[in-house]
Amino acid sequence: MEVIGVKDFNEMSKRAAQFVYEDLVNRRIKVMGMATGGTPIGFYKQLVRLYKKGDFSFKGIQTVNLDEYVGLSPENPNSYHQYMYQHLFQHIDIQRDQTHLPNGAAEDLERECVRYEQLIEELGGIDLQLLGIGENGHIGFNEPGTSFHSNTHVVNLTTATREANARYFNDRREVPKQAITMGIDTIMKSKKILLLASGKEKAQAIYRLLYDKVDESCPATILQRHPNITIIADNEALSLVT
Ligand code: F6R
Repeated sequence: MEVIGVKDFNEMSKRAAQFVYEDLVNRRIKVMGMATGGTPIGFYKQLVRLYKKGDFSFKGIQTVNLDEYVGLSPENPNSYHQYMYQHLFQHIDIQRDQTHLPNGAAEDLERECVRYEQLIEELGGIDLQLLGIGENGHIGFNEPGTSFHSNTHVVNLTTATREANARYFNDRREVPKQAITMGIDTIMKSKKILLLASGKEKAQAIYRLLYDKVDESCPATILQRHPNITIIADNEALSLVT
């Protein structure tokens, strides 16, 4: 595990974009796992900036997102489909049919989870998975207590996670109660992982990821067992790490 400490959110975003840029230019990524939320917004901005220099293309690259809310259609402004379009896809030359997210509006959610897990397998697995981290140590929407053997599944979001995400909705009652998420095992099968963290709210989770016993009560602790993970975190997120 490599931990790269940087000054702040801006430096984290730049460093992460450079990290991914090198893999893209050297054609080491065919399937890229994407994350949403506040943390990767600066990263996507920087990646678009590097893309505009013109020395790599997203044609032929497939993307798979970690998660999507249940009950929101892909057109809903709060859906992760829209987030990805707004922050990345509309700015780059990726083919839309090569961008994949779970369908939170599917009639049969169980079947949708199976479809999504199979899709990732059929694509040949994830070459690089981008992750953020929840204050309670969640990765994807795998909340504390999720089995380390889980595949893509439907989760009930905790009150804390719904509250943390309420800032994106007009009214906190609009925050969905469920999501579809890649499981811990899905994430762990990625060949490489890049986890980003910024801000003091993430300090405890980063400390636990690095030093706590590997245990399902803190999902991120499983990452200690991943053979190729890089963490880029800013000073505040690393403030409990000596
Ligand atoms: C997002 C995701 C979540 C977030 C986490 C942190 O696709 O899977 O695990 O990475 O909730 O969210 P932010 O970045 O908003 O603090």
